[in-house]
Amino acid sequence: MRKPVIAGNWKMHMTCSEAKDYMSVFLPLIKETSNDRHIVIAPPFTSLSTMADLSVMSNLELSSQNVHWEDSGAFTAEISPSMLLEHRVKYAIVGHSEPRKYFSESDKQINLRAKSAQSNHLIPIVCVGETFEQREKGEAERVIRRQVEQGLEELDFTNVVVAYEPIWAIGTGKTCESIEANRICTLIRKWSGYSDLRIQYGGSVKPSNIDELMSMSDIDGVLVGGASLDPESFGRIANYN
Ligand code: 13P
Repeated sequence: MRKPVIAGNWKMHMTCSEAKDYMSVFLPLIKETSNDRHIVIAPPFTSLSTMADLSVMSNLELSSQNVHWEDSGAFTAEISPSMLLEHRVKYAIVGHSEPRKYFSESDKQINLRAKSAQSNHLIPIVCVGETFEQREKGEAERVIRRQVEQGLEELDFTNVVVAYEPIWAIGTGKTCESIEANRICTLIRKWSGYSDLRIQYGGSVKPSNIDELMSMSDIDGVLVGGASLDPESFGRIANYN
């Protein structure tokens, strides 16, 4: 059973005081939401503790935006699984296109992060997706397949979420057509060989396209950037029909 995961990735936004204001509007909006879906927010590390306090007793789950493969050590700017577990974090985003692009994260490193998450009872959200140039050159499927095969190597597929985020659709307002997003998600499921793999779509998801995206056969949730920063918008997305 592929229970959808509706996740907001706040990226480098929201101080603790902004997170408090946000939650005072957002939590009432999801209070009555059916438990047929997971609702998740990935705040910056600095607001995880505040978010953990604010969301206790609610139906909101927390994700981190990264996780390291070692549990401690000389890894400046990194975060370990046990540091996250202390704050009731349940998921860890790995392989997002931004660290892939700005910090040259490799599929090998992403796989190490995902394996470390799983072995510490965190659910990795492994992001994959092609650039505009790769799509134009007809390389999208080959690139995504490599990211899936290397990123998911040796993982327990029952405890992972894959997020298909075409890079040209991130923060651009250009959503991938839902039929095309669904086609890629179907391929990812096939390449993984596991029919119950949970696969999200991400890239300019908003209140106006969520219902259509969630009606697709192979899209099991969404990873939302910009629209998750507004509690009313993300509330509408979490309450998709
Ligand atoms: P946008 O929803 O702003 O396009 O961002 C998507 C994303 O990168 C989520 O991880």
